[in-house]
Amino acid sequence: MYIKKMSEMAGTSEASPTGGGLEGAFYFDADFSYLEQIVPSGDIVILTDENVYGFHVEKFSGWPVIKFAAGEQHKNQATTDHIIGELISMGAGKNTVLIGVGGGVVTDITGYVAAVYMRGIACGFVPTTILGMVDAAIGGKNGIDVGVYKNMVGTIRQPVFILYDYSFLQTLPVNEWVNGFAEIIKHACIKDAMLFSMLERFSLHDFQSDSTLVAELIEKNAEIKTAVVIRDEFEKGERKQLNFGHTIGHAIENLHQLPHGHAVSIGMAAACNLSEQLAGLHFDEARRVVMLLAKYHLPVDIETDHEKVFEVLKMDKKRVRDEVDFILLSRIGMAEIKPVPLSTLHDHLKEYL
Ligand SMILES: NC(=O)c1ccc[n+]([C@@H]2O[C@H](COP(=O)([O-])OP(=O)(O)OC[C@H]3O[C@@H](n4cnc5c(N)ncnc54)[C@H](O)[C@@H]3O)[C@@H](O)[C@H]2O)c1
Ligand SMILES: [Zn+2]
Repeated sequence: MYIKKMSEMAGTSEASPTGGGLEGAFYFDADFSYLEQIVPSGDIVILTDENVYGFHVEKFSGWPVIKFAAGEQHKNQATTDHIIGELISMGAGKNTVLIGVGGGVVTDITGYVAAVYMRGIACGFVPTTILGMVDAAIGGKNGIDVGVYKNMVGTIRQPVFILYDYSFLQTLPVNEWVNGFAEIIKHACIKDAMLFSMLERFSLHDFQSDSTLVAELIEKNAEIKTAVVIRDEFEKGERKQLNFGHTIGHAIENLHQLPHGHAVSIGMAAACNLSEQLAGLHFDEARRVVMLLAKYHLPVDIETDHEKVFEVLKMDKKRVRDEVDFILLSRIGMAEIKPVPLSTLHDHLKEYL
């Protein structure tokens, strides 16, 4: 086990420009039981979902645990109310540390409840999915869905620690590994050509069967996301790059009820095609991205009604008048944010999807 401060993860010792909230610590290669050392007062309440609890019941023994049903459909106000009710009946107070143990659904809810319970208590995360470890647990965005509107309500507030216990991954279903790799490939595309080459050299099976290799991969990706968050916590600029593949991705995710990683993968393939036209991405590099996605069992295209996709895109949060801020690649490892006219996007979808 070793500890890295959030500020050290950016590869610079400079204080963060946004100040105070970014001093959280990462406990890599740790054992779950190390929680006792992190919160010595023992004033802990654990939040988890029923799946994670069921698979790892022995890890939770001796801790106060609040469980809720697994799945995105439970990332809502009703679950939040239930948790708050339980916290009150357990006598949780201002000094209680709320610890979310699970995938992104659990850590998003934990961060949200911690932000509002008694006007804010500390929280820590133990991500148990690949996606949670490399993405959702990092960066302080939390929240819940309201009806069909994803992440409609929430705050940006950093956890005090993130603990990585890779033994959780032993029970993670393969489709959840695949989902997580979409975000890993995204990080490589926008920030790290060396990581991209590493992913080309290995396969999903290599990572699943080699705990040292997967630990190295997860730490690298946690560093990439953290560095972006430190430089732009409130998404004024660079943090937008993390939306690579997500503009078209979100539109088809909703239309076709796809797993998030699948939708983002198709979105990244489409964004590469657009990058060839608008950002000078070389044809061979666009092809390498598509091949890498396919290698990690991710889809790269879909039969869809491109007019419907366009209708959803027009409603995108990133639209300003008749342009959408789009994340494009100028080369592998280098992203840029470009306003793209809706008419260009319409033509692209017609041709590509
Ligand atoms: N806050 C952020 O910055 C951010 C970023 C990306 C995604 N997210 C959110 O994260 C969520 C998606 O996260 P996710 O993919 O981790 O989903 P999830 O939390 O729903 O987990 C996926 C499934 O895996 C199960 N699971 C989790 N860990 C397991 C384990 N070790 N063994 C066996 N099963 C396990 C869960 O019970 C669930 O059924 C979405 O709600 C998304 O909005 C948030
Ligand atoms: Zn995503």
